[in-house]
Amino acid sequence: MSKLDEVLNLAKIKGYFWPAYDVYGGSSGFYVLGPYGVILTNGITSLWRQLFVRPMGFLEIDAPSVTPYKVLKSSGHVDNFKDPMAECSNCHNKYRADNLLSEAGKEISESASPEAMQLALNDDHIRCPNCGFTNWVVKPFMTMFSTNIGPYENSEGFLRPETAQGIFVEFQRLLSLNRGKLPMGVSQAGRGFRNEISPRQSIIRLREFHMLEVELFIDPAAKVSVIRPSEKRLPILHEAILSAGRAEPDHLTLVEALDKGIVKNEWLGMFMQLSLELLCNLGVPVERQRFREKLKGERAHYSAQTFDHEVFIEEVGWLEVAGHAYRTDYDLKSHMKGSGQDMTVSVDLESPISVPKKKVNFRIDALKLRYPESWQGILAGGYRLDENGVLFNGTPIDRDVYTINETVEVVKVRKIIPHVVEPSFGLERLMLACMYFAYQKKDDRIVLSVPGGVIKRVAAVFPLLSKPELTLRAQEVRERLLKAGIDVIYDDSGSIGRRYARVDEAGVPIAITIDHQSLEDGTVTVRNRDTWEQVRKPEDQLVSFMESLSLY
Ligand code: ATP
Ligand code: GLY
Repeated sequence: MSKLDEVLNLAKIKGYFWPAYDVYGGSSGFYVLGPYGVILTNGITSLWRQLFVRPMGFLEIDAPSVTPYKVLKSSGHVDNFKDPMAECSNCHNKYRADNLLSEAGKEISESASPEAMQLALNDDHIRCPNCGFTNWVVKPFMTMFSTNIGPYENSEGFLRPETAQGIFVEFQRLLSLNRGKLPMGVSQAGRGFRNEISPRQSIIRLREFHMLEVELFIDPAAKVSVIRPSEKRLPILHEAILSAGRAEPDHLTLVEALDKGIVKNEWLGMFMQLSLELLCNLGVPVERQRFREKLKGERAHYSAQTFDHEVFIEEVGWLEVAGHAYRTDYDLKSHMKGSGQDMTVSVDLESPISVPKKKVNFRIDALKLRYPESWQGILAGGYRLDENGVLFNGTPIDRDVYTINETVEVVKVRKIIPHVVEPSFGLERLMLACMYFAYQKKDDRIVLSVPGGVIKRVAAVFPLLSKPELTLRAQEVRERLLKAGIDVIYDDSGSIGRRYARVDEAGVPIAITIDHQSLEDGTVTVRNRDTWEQVRKPEDQLVSFMESLSLY
């Protein structure tokens, strides 16, 4: 069994995740996160908040998943959110055309047209995995789930393919909550839905999954200095490397990547740096990570530059766990146009500027007399002022019917449509990467050595034996920990060795055992998941002990 299969097996048996709707034969692309999966994904989400949301004072919202047609029409998803679908002319099974080609070892750009993919499949006689036939028809397939909102016709909606749109459409309200200030970061942890043509590879390609996204609204002209410069090098497989047909990334500090123009936006680079930190905190070795630039044609319709953060998993190859995109003003511009609402922002100029202004004052009586037919149109604003004076319908108006006042206006602000920079993570893929690198075997036993910062505030509590005096005391310890905000996995069944093994597989960092000595002197045994070392600690020092291990 490969390591990935062992991890997936552990996930299923121990209750991290498993295919949903099994009793009805299953429905591919849908998975249940079980109790340990919930603990682990909660831990990853907290770490994401700790790195991407809290330090910069970003806002967090929770918007609806069902999205009206108009929103996703304006955003460009209705027209662009499509994958090439190849249908076998014989058995009518359907697959992603680019996957069929890449699995057959034929390289084709993600941006190739359906016609080009059809030609490539048929010219290369690619066989249908189901019936072996070699005749394909390729068409674009829209990968958003559509629904009807309410009982009326013409009220089409979709399940959101990204959480981002729920943020963009609330921009004005959010900006006022942020007191009109840019940059403004808004985050959202929520479900995304994509009607993938052929979901496979367990939780790697789901039809419903969890996203962790930040939309950062910026003034593109504002000067930004790197907030957290780090000497840690980013492995970047950028456009120039890819165009040269090389596969080895450049290892650049953020400042170098920006100075060389490889990363086109400071914030984009800062998010990439944080992303590297997040993955390292999840236990993914830095040499198993890279940022792959998406080439023109591979990028989403809204993006000016995208780097996929990828993790190398032996059995899968490079797996995308996040997309970091510079979305420019595409989104707000699209929603301004679609909704008719103003989404511009007034930003302070560094120093006010003086703008000469000219105002025309008409002598009304003289105007009426001289232009009896057209004076009303002129007063209604139908004139133009240029260096030759006032013109109406292209003809100069007599000088003696008006005067010009020259003033100077001091302008302190300019109007902009903010640009957006976005780091977007898939939570299930983060969990899989974390589990894959945490998976260890020790004396033929499985230990999930999830790094300390991920599964925090969780401990196991066991009475050594299921005798009433010990279980009573163990329950007291449990209550004490719960009161301090620590989640407790309580277990009093089976041998103590079995119970330790169960929580090792679940990645729980410490296990606390209550024995007869606990009844005498109030101390308990604390066992470390990774070293299996046991120390005795007074019950009332457990919380501070966990704090000292950064587990609280
Ligand atoms: P892929 O190329 O693998 O289809 P994508 O480029 O469509 O991914 P994005 O649109 O950038 O992915 O979505 C952001 C993140 O959401 C991805 O980096 C990935 O972690 C996650 N994600 C996207 N699609 C799926 C899916 N079908 N199942 C699970 N996670 C997904
Ligand atoms: N919000 C990024 C994406 O869905 O691709």
